[in-house]
Parts: sequence; structure tokens; C-alpha cells
Amino acid sequence: MKVLHGVDEVVQWRTTNVDRRFQSSGFVPTMGCLHEGHLSLIRASKQENDFTIASIFVNPSQFAPTEDLDKYPRTLQNDLAMLEAEGVDMCFVPNVKEIYPQGIPLHVDEQRGPFVSVLGVSEQLEGRTRPNFFRGVATVVTKLLNVVFPTNAYFGQKDFQQFTVLKVMTEELFVNTKLTMMPIVRDSEGLALSSRNRYLCAESRRISTAIYQGLEAAASAVNALDPGAHISRETLENRIGKIWEPYVSSGDFEVDYVSVAHARSLQELDDVSRDADVVISCAVYVTDREVKSTRVRLIDNVVLT
Ligand code: PAJ
Repeated sequence: MKVLHGVDEVVQWRTTNVDRRFQSSGFVPTMGCLHEGHLSLIRASKQENDFTIASIFVNPSQFAPTEDLDKYPRTLQNDLAMLEAEGVDMCFVPNVKEIYPQGIPLHVDEQRGPFVSVLGVSEQLEGRTRPNFFRGVATVVTKLLNVVFPTNAYFGQKDFQQFTVLKVMTEELFVNTKLTMMPIVRDSEGLALSSRNRYLCAESRRISTAIYQGLEAAASAVNALDPGAHISRETLENRIGKIWEPYVSSGDFEVDYVSVAHARSLQELDDVSRDADVVISCAVYVTDREVKSTRVRLIDNVVLT
């Protein structure tokens, strides 16, 4: 596997190796600290393309000053070994200067350089708690797609809103890459794999499986509806709340949001029928039982279509 650090090197590599007229390439952008969730995207790309390219870049513009940029886990050597074992052809590992030559355009002290913003779908859910997050994501993904210029790019349903934002972005900016969303990979108890799970002790990780159980309880209430019947968002929230309540009371969980929204527009819904396109999603702060000062924000969702 080729590991490249410079934009020019990547452009050179792909123009010499990939003939886009006859060969396809699949791209999986990541922030590293890879797990089976990331690898499922790599495998999908391997299956569907002649070449598979990954990137590892902890993108500073999608972190707010108060967030965990410095603490974000970095396991580069291990990540590269995993990608190599999967048969990835090339991995792009740029530094911040390479991606943001003018400086990071979204930080208060560096208001320079271009950015990409997808208004509307960026503002709800994650966007409410993390106002500049999707601007950072859309900006870096635009840059990466322009450098790598892949036929296909793969993203996880784990970050459902991220996929929605990027889909609108690529469609409306006529970006010549097709985006594909792959299902959430979970551990054996249902917890969605995330690079941030490693901050939690085994007991807190086990408790965190209740996040998904809550969402599943809401999903099965929708699936149990008779055709034409509706269920209110309040009832769905109560279903979820009942499962989470013991952990909220014990101080393990603090709920950031629960959303019941249309799966394409991400507009919140007052009620849901069985044949609606719905995404039920949430973010929950989990306080670690061993190290009480550790608080991890976990997101999860179920999509009903
Ligand atoms: P990162 O969190 O590293 O995730 C990279 C990709 O892996 C994303 O598409 C994400 O949805 C997917 N992923 C993460 N956990 C998953 C799981 N349990 N199952 C399936 N897919 C999973 O998302 C980002 O990085 C960044 O925002 C990025 C797109 C790279 C831009 O900086």
C-alpha cells in the first residue's frame, strides 16, 4: 500500500495509476483510529472498484474549540497496518498545512480561506449542538474528493446526518463522485462502534448498549403499526425514555437530543406512520463509571424506510 502525504503526490499517483475512463476507484475518508465500522466501508469499496483509496486526517475545522481535537485518539501505525491488510491501494495522510494552506477557515482567530456550507440539512440535530461541524466536514470532504477524484465514496449510516449533508453537497455542486451509505456496524451487544468508545470502561460500554435498545424500542413501535395508523413523537420519546431512565437517574446518561425526523429533509415530525421515511436518532453524553471526569458523546440512529 502506498502511503502519501502531499496533495501533489496523490494527484500524481492517481493520474498515473487510475484511468478514470475505464477503471473505477472507491474512496473512504476517515479520521483514523480505525475499527470494523471503517473496515466495512473499505470492504464495500474493494468489492465495487478497481482501486481503493483511504484517507486519515483528523480534521480540525470540524471540532469546536471546546471539543476533543487534541484528545482525539491517534493510532496511525496500527491504522495503516489494518488498511494494508484489507488490500487498500493508497492511503492519503496529509498534515493540516497541506489541507488548509491559508489556515483553518472556521476558527475564530483564522477567518481566511474558502469553506463549503450546506444550509438547511446542516442546522438541525448535530448541527444544533455543534454549529460549525458540518461546515468543517463539507469543506474537508470537498477538498479530499477534489484531490482523490474517486468514482465512488463510502460513508457510514452511523453519521446519518453527515451522509445527508454530503449527498446534498455533491449533488448540488455537481461533484462527479457517487456517494454510498453503508449500515452501522455494532458490537455483539448492539453498541455502535465508534473511535470514542475506547474512552469508556467495559461497564460503561455495556451500559451504553441501552442507547440502541431505546432506539430499537421506538423503531419496533413504528413497525408494529397497522397500515395507515400513526404514532406520536411523544409516545416514541416515552418508549426510548423508559429504557434510558435508569441510566439517566444514575448519572450515567445525559441526553443531548432525541430526534424523530424525515429521513431526507431531516425535518422533525410530530407523528409517524409505518410507511414513512423516518430516522430516529440521538446523542447521549455517557459519564465513565471508572473515570468520572470522562464524558463521551455518543450518537446512534435507526432508519425506517
Ligand atoms: P470517522 O469518524 O473516522 O468516520 C469515517 C467513516 O466511518 C464515516 O463515514 C463514518 O460514518 C464511518 N463509521 C464510523 N463508525 C461506523 C460504524 N460503527 N459503522 C459503520 N460506519 C462507521 O466521519 C468522519 O470520520 C469525518 O467526519 C470525515 C468524513 C472523515 C471528514 O473529516
